[in-house]
Amino acid sequence: MHGLLADARPVAREVLEQILQRGQLGREDIIAILSTRDAEDVDLIRKAAEQTLLEHCSDSVYYRGLIEFSNLCAMDCHYCGIRRGNTNVERYTLSIDEIVEAAKWCADSGYGSVVLQSGERSDPAFVDFVEVALRAIKAATVSEKLPQGAGITLSVGEQTLETYERFYSAGAHRYLLRVETTNPELFVKIHPTGQTLANRLNCLRMLKETGFQVGTGVMIGIPGQTIEMLADDLLFFSNIDCDMIGMGPYIVHSDTPLKDEFERDPLDKRDAMRISLLMIGAARLLMKDINMAATTALQAIDPLGREKALRFGANIIMPQVTPGKYRKNYLLYEGKPCVDEEKGDCLVCLAMRIKSVGRKIGQDDWGDSRHALEKSPQR
Ligand code: 5AD
Repeated sequence: MHGLLADARPVAREVLEQILQRGQLGREDIIAILSTRDAEDVDLIRKAAEQTLLEHCSDSVYYRGLIEFSNLCAMDCHYCGIRRGNTNVERYTLSIDEIVEAAKWCADSGYGSVVLQSGERSDPAFVDFVEVALRAIKAATVSEKLPQGAGITLSVGEQTLETYERFYSAGAHRYLLRVETTNPELFVKIHPTGQTLANRLNCLRMLKETGFQVGTGVMIGIPGQTIEMLADDLLFFSNIDCDMIGMGPYIVHSDTPLKDEFERDPLDKRDAMRISLLMIGAARLLMKDINMAATTALQAIDPLGREKALRFGANIIMPQVTPGKYRKNYLLYEGKPCVDEEKGDCLVCLAMRIKSVGRKIGQDDWGDSRHALEKSPQR
């Protein structure tokens, strides 16, 4: 049995109700929440999380247009489809013009922010390229609606302090670096390229020092992961005082080493979905005013995955704006949705999805988290 089910410790409904009313979650409370299986109990958690979101954030859902600008990667992570060892991937890097065109489309379409994401490299040519791209996006997206240009979130992995400073000066003001798991042994097991948990934590610290709003997150359902580890992950997010979270289910990719282990001890999609939603709900209860993404991976295992996440306290959606012809080469996992589409296809589809859960779109706004804005106002 998968570790996430084997070590579950559910509690009686009355106890769960007390936990939700108390509002302050300790480790055992989080374990109880993540262990919940009964549909009515799950819905109690959902309601508490949704109410917390509406009280402490707003009913707006903010877009970040996701530009997956390169799938070249120097790392060999055991879970990821674009790991360097996967020779079945056609490698690409967008031109600066293609990146700017995608970012400009976002700004013109009311998406106040973009996310620039790629495989992980730290060679000088890559760092220079990212810096040029950031400055070009800023220059191209200034308008009356966005006087400081589009908000830019960067997601290009572990870098040096100097590199982080260069990226910040070039105009990125948010950075996503998922920790993937805070369990040191599991971290090393899935990251074979010399990465360590200690360095990942150091990068998160440096990003904060640099001035970035910092986002992190984990994958849910990694072979060997337990409910206790997930509870510790949530406490870690709270302890480092992060501003943003992105979490989703681990989804197998057949060209990766983790495939066999997952297939020996699979996690049913429904279980992965429930535990992912409970993670989002628990994160919202724990960190009331942060931004949290309804991630694409959720939609890969359930067509309504992102809407469900919004109802468990998520308030960010990252529509893909990578030019259509490249999308099939950025498959971190199998079954990634929207691979055959172009960026305009999302406009109507997402607006409908957001409306269907009673929320509205936060147009023409960077959509920084309240949590970050209270610490330091928008620059
Ligand atoms: N399943 C789910 N998420 C994945 N990621 C990478 N590979 C997978 C996978 N197989 C996530 C990681 C990474 C983010 C960009 O994508 O958490 O940080």
